[in-house]
Order: sequence, then structure tokens, then C-alpha cells
Amino acid sequence: VSRVIPVDTFDLVIFGGTGDLARRKILPGLFRRFRSGQMPAEARIIGAARSEMDDAGYRQMIREAIAEFGSEEKEDAGGIDAFLERLHYVAIDAMGEGGWKQLRDLMRDGVVRAFYFSVAPSLFGALAERLHEHRIADGESRIVVEKPFGRDLASAKALNATLAEHFDESQIYRIDHYLGKETVQNLMATRFGNVLFEPLWNSHYIDHIQITVAETVGVAGRGSYYDKSGAMRDMVQNHLMQLLCLIAMEPPSTYDADTVRDEKLKVIRALQPVEPHQVVRGQYDASQDGPSYREDAENPRSFTESFLALKCHIANWRWAKVPFYIRTGKRMKARSSEIAVVFKDLGHSIFEGDTARHRNILSIQLQPNEGMDLQVTIKEPGPGGMRLVDVPLDMTFADALGPDQEAPDAYERLIMDVIRGDQTLFMRGDEVEAAWAWTDPIIEGWEARNDVPKLYEAGTAGPEDAMMLMHRDGRRWREIK
Ligand code: BG6
Repeated sequence: VSRVIPVDTFDLVIFGGTGDLARRKILPGLFRRFRSGQMPAEARIIGAARSEMDDAGYRQMIREAIAEFGSEEKEDAGGIDAFLERLHYVAIDAMGEGGWKQLRDLMRDGVVRAFYFSVAPSLFGALAERLHEHRIADGESRIVVEKPFGRDLASAKALNATLAEHFDESQIYRIDHYLGKETVQNLMATRFGNVLFEPLWNSHYIDHIQITVAETVGVAGRGSYYDKSGAMRDMVQNHLMQLLCLIAMEPPSTYDADTVRDEKLKVIRALQPVEPHQVVRGQYDASQDGPSYREDAENPRSFTESFLALKCHIANWRWAKVPFYIRTGKRMKARSSEIAVVFKDLGHSIFEGDTARHRNILSIQLQPNEGMDLQVTIKEPGPGGMRLVDVPLDMTFADALGPDQEAPDAYERLIMDVIRGDQTLFMRGDEVEAAWAWTDPIIEGWEARNDVPKLYEAGTAGPEDAMMLMHRDGRRWREIK
């Protein structure tokens, strides 16, 4: 039974419509929403980019993109023709006049207008200005922007100011695709939809929290971007920060965009500065399976980190003295993302001879499979007496949902939210700025010290020092599997 509710009819313009993100994620995602019945049949998608091309050429390009990057869709040729008919193309010059009149003529009145800026941030200002000059955007239109949203506080403020010249905050949708992942949203449902967890969700019962986002891919092919960013700017300032916020925030009074974002902002603002000894930077070395980071990034003298682990604290009542350990890296052992809430040990055990350290651990997996499990201690089944074992209470979503209820990919979900006008899962300007305000001094610190990242072997859990970061505190990272 389909529970899909179609969104209102829309005209979506994708600037950078021939780019990598458009071909890999945005259009295959929109096609899936079309097939599911969520994208209305009258919706119109307009690719806009510099190259000269007609509608037929663009449709062909997207047909190929869907065949390459979509999943099972390629077999459904009938569906794809109907979808491609919804596509148009305009060759546009962001800095000049070319194409704008044509674009205006394509836009319809009385439907939602959204503009996806899938281009370099240096073009945001010019695009916003042209859209207004040519009366294509108005007070109801929405714009979607992508990371990187700045590279420090100053540049993020400048970008926010540029957008604010033409658009109200309520019209700006800053995508962090981690917020579109099924499990990430489930985090809020788990915390605020159950009576079980929230009473324990504080420093009295929680020993520490671990957030891991491990990837197996390297940076080959995108070194020119990545080498100027590194793991802190590429992953921590945005994706991991958002996960941390959802884990740590106070219960919002309603599930509404600004109420939720107000609570997230308070978490970021309460993050304490991080001392140099609480951060470990790593860079992957060459291995049998592949070249080193420096070869991939084509920069033999690079000091950019492809791995980062750090320990931080949130200075408020709920989290006093509870460490948050976060780590992320490329070319690691497995593609695996997990948030683990590790509860405290029992103060006293009534079971004689039981010296094991039983702990409850709530593990929330984002990748590769989305789901949660709760480690609980039970009696080992059988006649062996009162022996205790730890077992997971498994709540894998795929099993619970059933095979027909494929969860939409993060991008598809977020684009549909844009059309619905729901900003809950998008970053507000002040959140992004607060996150940079926290990461800036850490980055400046290692730049000032000419910090050299520790080499780690590809296919591992990162540099040895990252293990030490936890061992020093008598704790251990969860296994990456
Ligand atoms: C992107 C980063 O934002 O997220 C990439 O720029 C990273 O470096 C990617 O690989 C990870 O996304 P996901 O959804 O594959 O975990």
C-alpha cells in the first residue's frame, strides 16, 4: 500500500543542471519520486548551465545519468520517458544576460518555484541578483544551496549576507544531506516518541557518546576540492555536527523548523573549545590496494587530514562531564556510520563471580544498513546457571518496513521537503555560523603549529593516536565493521 502523498506542482530550476551532483543524485532522486507518485505529473524541472544544448539533448544526458547512477530504474523505460518529458533546458550565463528571458518564459504562475544552486558559491550572489532583476524569483520562491557553505566563519557570514540581500531566511534551504537520512530522522522519533529513553538521556546515566562516519573511498578525482578542505571542513563542521546536535539537543516543544533549529543552535553554542591534545588528524598512506592520500590529492606536500578524531564537551546541565568522541575518515576499514550511546556501568552487581562490564549501548546505524540496536544483558539461555550475556535487541528498519517500502534517498526526501516548504531538516544561517565559530580556532591552531597529520594504513580504523585518545580515558572505540 503506497503511503505517498504527492507534493504541490512545482517548477524546479537546477543551476548546474549538467553537473556531477545533478546527474548523480538530484535527477535520479527526482525520477524515483516521480515513479513513487510523489512528484506530480505536471511538475517541471529545468536544467540550467553554461553549455549550449536543447531539451532533447538534456533529456538524453539525464537518461544516461539515470542509467548510470539510478538503481533498478533503468528497466522501466516507459516511466522514464514520461519523466524526461517533464525536463527542459536553458543555456544560461550567470554573470551576463544570456538565457534569462527564456527561463522566465518557462516559469508558470501559481506553482511552487524553487531554484537549486548546485554551483560554486562564488556564483550565488550573481544568480540571486539575476533572478530578481528578471522577475523570476519573488517573495514566495525557495532557493536550495549546498555545502561547502563557506570555509570559515567570515566566508559563511559573507555568503549568508549575500543571500539575505535577495531572500528571506524562510526561503533559504541549506542542504546537509545527512539530515535527510532515514535513521537521522529516526533519532528524533526515538528520543521524543518513547518514554523509555529520555529519562536516561543525560550525564547521570550516559557514560559517553561515540559518533563514527567511516568511509572506504579515497579522494581520487576530487582532490582539488578536498585538499583545501580536509575532514574537518568536509564532514565534521556539517554532517557530524548535525548528528551531535540531534543526539544532544533539549526536547523542542514542537516538531517545527525553527523550534528544532533553536535547540540545535543551543548545542553548538554550548560546545567547549577543543584543546590540541583532544584532536587527532590522520592522512592515509599508500597500501597494496591503492595510492596514498598525497598521490590521490596530487599534492606531494599536502598536510590536509583525511581522518579526524576528537573529543569534545557540551557545557550544560544535561551533558556535564560526558565526553563526545567523534571520528571520520576516508579509506578506512569499512563503510560504516554509527552513533553509539554508551550507558554507565551498573554500580553494583548481585551476581557472584560476574566480573564482566555489562553495559547498555544504544547503537544507531546510518550506514550501510539503517537501523538501531540496543545492547541488553540477559541470562545466558540454558542450564549453565546464572551466567550473564550481552545481546542486541535488533531493530533493523529494512525488516520492519518490509521490502516494498524502500526509504527514499536523502536528496529525494529533502527536495520534496523544499517543495512542501518544510525547513526542519535544513540548516539555518545562524547554525552554520555557530558551527564555524567552533571549528575555526581548532583549524587555526593546527595551521599556526604547522601540524602534520599522522599517517595511517588504508583499510584500518585510522592512526594509532586515535585509539589513544580513548584509551587514555579508559574507553574504547566501537569496532568498525
Ligand atoms: C559529502 C562529502 O558531503 O559526504 C564527501 O563531501 C563524503 O567527502 C560524503 O564522501 C559522504 O556521504 P554519504 O552519504 O556517502 O555518507
